[in-house]
Amino acid sequence: MNKYQEFIDQFGASPINNDLLERFEKLTGKKAHKFLRREIFYAQRDFDQILDLYEKGEPFYIYTGRGPSFSMHIGHIIPFEFAAYLQNVFDVYVIIQMTDDEKYFTRDLTFDQTEDYANKNIKDIMKCGFNPEKTFIFKNSEYIGTMYHNLCRIQRNLKFADVKSTFGFEQADNMGKISFPPMQMVPCLSSTFPHLFGSKKIKCLIPCAIDQDPYFRLIRDITFRMGEQKPALIFSKYIPSLQGPCKMSSSVFESAIYLDDTRTIVAQKIKNAFSGGGSTKKEHERFGANLEADVSYQYLRIFLDSDDELQDITVKYGSGKMYTREIKEKTIEVLDAYLETMRKK
Ligand code: TRP
Repeated sequence: MNKYQEFIDQFGASPINNDLLERFEKLTGKKAHKFLRREIFYAQRDFDQILDLYEKGEPFYIYTGRGPSFSMHIGHIIPFEFAAYLQNVFDVYVIIQMTDDEKYFTRDLTFDQTEDYANKNIKDIMKCGFNPEKTFIFKNSEYIGTMYHNLCRIQRNLKFADVKSTFGFEQADNMGKISFPPMQMVPCLSSTFPHLFGSKKIKCLIPCAIDQDPYFRLIRDITFRMGEQKPALIFSKYIPSLQGPCKMSSSVFESAIYLDDTRTIVAQKIKNAFSGGGSTKKEHERFGANLEADVSYQYLRIFLDSDDELQDITVKYGSGKMYTREIKEKTIEVLDAYLETMRKK
């Protein structure tokens, strides 16, 4: 069984089915984003409740975040693009947490470095089309004072045994790493942002990749006791790394396409990217490409806007009528066009 289905079966998330998408489109009058249509965002918790609130004209907000790294790659940008889309559809506040502390605890970095990375990443995040009037981005190291009260409330309600078994901490782990999880949970409480929400208890919706769910499972278990709202979630899959079907990593240079890569570098990386095409021309024409494993094809699913064009490529490449060289050329063109809009911003 694949990890995405496993996530649903083991951790009780729900799939995003057609009924939910139809309701979303009907209520908002907007077409579902290509990430929804193509199951890049494919699972959720309580997303129906968010739609209920929207239907009744009641408030909610969006929360997402980023552990700063040297440079952002195209996989990192997915939740932010999606958050900006949701913000524009629902016209709500977006909160973005930069966990400079998290990276200080878990990577071999100085505090100056994690703060530099955070500042640099914030600039890239701002290119995703957020409404500047309704977006609040902060670094934990700076906003800690305002968060502290809610942080303590969460800390008091969380059992070490639960945090330990959820994250699998070990005796030798540093205390910063062990005490970090509540930090990522605090923005789920709307009173953490009194300048935006006063003391009102407003529900939040978190777009994130499935690996972030442990934090939010834990807080969802204690919100009732705390007299707080459970966060709702909408989950994405990972973007495959250039070398094949595993997660794109920002610390392995060859595995990722960065926002600041030039066209030449993008072209070079895609040319070397893992291909699902047949190993000989004959074989390819006979059996077609393995689309699941083909990195270029998978990037097109994420970044190519036109459904018709994608469908055409799916049929032709999948049946061997289109060649790997052609699909790679298309991918380079699409990615470079995407990066070009980012470069301009
Ligand atoms: N831990 C996340 C990372 O390493 C950063 C993060 C903080 C986050 N808050 C979040 C991600 C909320 C998604 C949603 O990148």
